[in-house]
Amino acid sequence: MNAHYIYHAEPETSYRLAEEKAAQYFSTLDAQVKNQSFLPILTHDIQLWKRSHITQPSLLSLFSKKKKRPDSRDYGRYIQWLNYTGKLEDYLDRSVSYIYMRDLGKALDSLETKTRIQRIVADVKRYVLQLTTGDGDKPPAMVDLAELYRWSQKLGIEASTIWLIDKLKGVAAHIPEGMNAEHAQRKLIKIVIGVMMHVYEELDVDVSHAVRAQKLSEAIRLGYSYGLTYPFIDDLLDSYVLTPQEKEQYSHMIRSALLTGIVPEIGLWTGSNHELIQYIHAELKEAFETIANIQNEESKQIFFEQSYVFFQAQEQDRAKNLAYPSYTNEDLYIPVILKSSSSRQIIRSVIAASVDDGFDHRTFCYGIYNQLADDFADMFDDMDNGAVTPYTYYLKYRHQRPDLINPFELYWAVIHHLIHGVHHSDSSTREVILDRAINGLKRCKERLGTEKYNEIMDIFASGIPALNKLVQQMVQKADDVDFLDKLLRDQLVTALRHDQKEKDEFLDTVHKARDQINSVLKIAKEDDISPMKEPLIDAANYCLEGDGKRLRPILSWAIAVNAYGLNASEIIPLLRSIEYMHTASLIFDDLPSQDNASIRRGRPTLHQVHNIATAELTGLFLIQKAIKEQSSLKSFDPKAVLDLMQYSAHKTEEMCMGQAMDLDSKGKALNLDQLNMICFYKTGIAFEASLVMPAILAQISGEEIETLKKYAYHAGIAFQIKDDLLDLEGDTHVLGKPVGQDAHNNNSNFVSILGREGARKEMWEHYCLAMEALKGMPRNIAFLRHLLNYFVNRDR
Ligand code: IPE
Ligand code: IPE
Ligand code: MG
Ligand code: MG
Ligand code: MG
Repeated sequence: MNAHYIYHAEPETSYRLAEEKAAQYFSTLDAQVKNQSFLPILTHDIQLWKRSHITQPSLLSLFSKKKKRPDSRDYGRYIQWLNYTGKLEDYLDRSVSYIYMRDLGKALDSLETKTRIQRIVADVKRYVLQLTTGDGDKPPAMVDLAELYRWSQKLGIEASTIWLIDKLKGVAAHIPEGMNAEHAQRKLIKIVIGVMMHVYEELDVDVSHAVRAQKLSEAIRLGYSYGLTYPFIDDLLDSYVLTPQEKEQYSHMIRSALLTGIVPEIGLWTGSNHELIQYIHAELKEAFETIANIQNEESKQIFFEQSYVFFQAQEQDRAKNLAYPSYTNEDLYIPVILKSSSSRQIIRSVIAASVDDGFDHRTFCYGIYNQLADDFADMFDDMDNGAVTPYTYYLKYRHQRPDLINPFELYWAVIHHLIHGVHHSDSSTREVILDRAINGLKRCKERLGTEKYNEIMDIFASGIPALNKLVQQMVQKADDVDFLDKLLRDQLVTALRHDQKEKDEFLDTVHKARDQINSVLKIAKEDDISPMKEPLIDAANYCLEGDGKRLRPILSWAIAVNAYGLNASEIIPLLRSIEYMHTASLIFDDLPSQDNASIRRGRPTLHQVHNIATAELTGLFLIQKAIKEQSSLKSFDPKAVLDLMQYSAHKTEEMCMGQAMDLDSKGKALNLDQLNMICFYKTGIAFEASLVMPAILAQISGEEIETLKKYAYHAGIAFQIKDDLLDLEGDTHVLGKPVGQDAHNNNSNFVSILGREGARKEMWEHYCLAMEALKGMPRNIAFLRHLLNYFVNRDR
């Protein structure tokens, strides 16, 4: 036998072993449910727990004015209230302890863990208090890339953070219809955070900044690599995106990858999802390589074994059919035990952490608790989807199959086993697990409404009436069972929804404005025009008709109409002037004397189609047209229009200087200040003008104009850096202009001077600065935020 063969054989053997272990665990639990031996002890536990959770209100407190408990969805106020009432410490303690137990598989009775938890609680307390001192009404910052990037700078992990942002963007772009892109991203982020937490826990307290940065960067890449399996293996196979044949082919590929450690070639793919599979295949291949590269032989083996167990258990669950009446209890529960525990064990093995028997045992036993809690909450959705879970199966077959275990009773048996069998009757463990269990039921009751909730309880709790009575009392009366992770999850969902709504509005505005702009751009010919005058107008229209993005007039439209309430039809001349000016600048920029480009807006450049003289004259013609348009802004205060024209002329001068500086810098080693200056002058200024000109017409205060300028400065530079990056890594067909032109011309720009990574970092720095500038705006500027997101994420 060669080493290769042994390696092949491992995963299947370890699946069998894991299955045996799960069967044993299950039979212990099964016996406890059957003889109800856990009931008296667990009842006692809950009574103990009750003492610290249900207190008779003192006479005094009935009379004293109490600050009302705010809805926990109101994040800021809720945290402040907890702090005010002295409950914040306990709240954070149970939240952090729970994560240490569930995600990190720690024993809460260890002194080391206790100390560590206390330190984290203190840090988190400082952090949440500082986060929530602002006004509680502003939209949650959870999806704020600027904050994320700033945080990554503090840790020195910018490059990996940017890498992750790009990867997540790729995932979102490839999630097929029929699957949920946001969900996929959320899961991935969750796994990345999980892996980062494990890495963080493994670090020594006095580790250097550089080592920590390196380890956390690695964690981000590993987390993504492993996290990919959730949307692209699990969810994909659960969905109806692939045909049954495709699923089979795909599963086969994954199984073979897990068994050999090598992602096989796709081979002949006959289904209609070839493109999707190609993307997933490439990502998974890279992911496998990333994981394999970071690990040694032993940890690699453990990783593949556990991944195989996870995959295999999922496959077994997936194959189940709710219409099949004869699954045994073992059929139902063993895959649940396996998948829920291996998914957490993989996270530890993915970072190649040393084997820790305590961790393995605790995690192995813990998984099913979580799974049963989740399945309980999702029981009706699962029922609608025809998914087999212990709950749906019990609901359907409980009358005809008296041998079926009641999953709710099993759930309490697991809790008892965790407290006493696994965690040695530790009091913190009891506290945290019971908090969580009662919280879960409370949330469920809120979501389903009392009637439906009681209906469920009648079905599931009738066999344990005494315990259930006590539990329901707790659900009704016990306070202080909330958890930070639940709050963050709710916040995140709200924030994502809010963000999506804004994004939709943004896209709506963009399309609406673009259509209007496109409909008024074409330069008309007078009826009696002499044929000799026509060619220049045709040349100008040729350039205008190209597939331009119209970003500058769109920006102008949005701020003018949405923020300053100007009349859309009255600003048409302004919009025209902006796009004419910009188009002229592109005509000049493409000339052989400047960038010498052959394609623009998806068609040959003007000087190629005609000649240089025609191009030069068309550029001049368009600039004059632009000025003429400005002078026809008839519905506005003439003084404001004159101000606008003076401002515009001044900005055009500056833009010329920008182009001159740009051309003069070929091959020169510029410093950051010089790079910023050139970019602002040649590109940023047009964005500034697009914002400031409507503000001038609307006679907005100088202070607000300064804020707009600051935003435009950074947004404009970010836009140009992205343009430089696209010149390096973009696609000509998508861009509608040549790529590689900057390198060919030996241009000095952010990419040539700082390199790809350096340029990206600068782009994100300007992104943050632009976002931060917006904090000073007194009105709704969702559009400007989303425009900036588009600037840095665009691929054309
Ligand atoms: C191109 O601008 C010139 C730069 C400032 C980089 P755009 O990328 O907005 O070009 P169009 O208008 O969509 O063609
Ligand atoms: C051009 O910058 C800026 C202006 C048109 C004023 P680039 O030369 O990088 O623009 P592209 O890449 O040709 O569009
Ligand atoms: Mg140029
Ligand atoms: Mg150019
Ligand atoms: Mg360019």
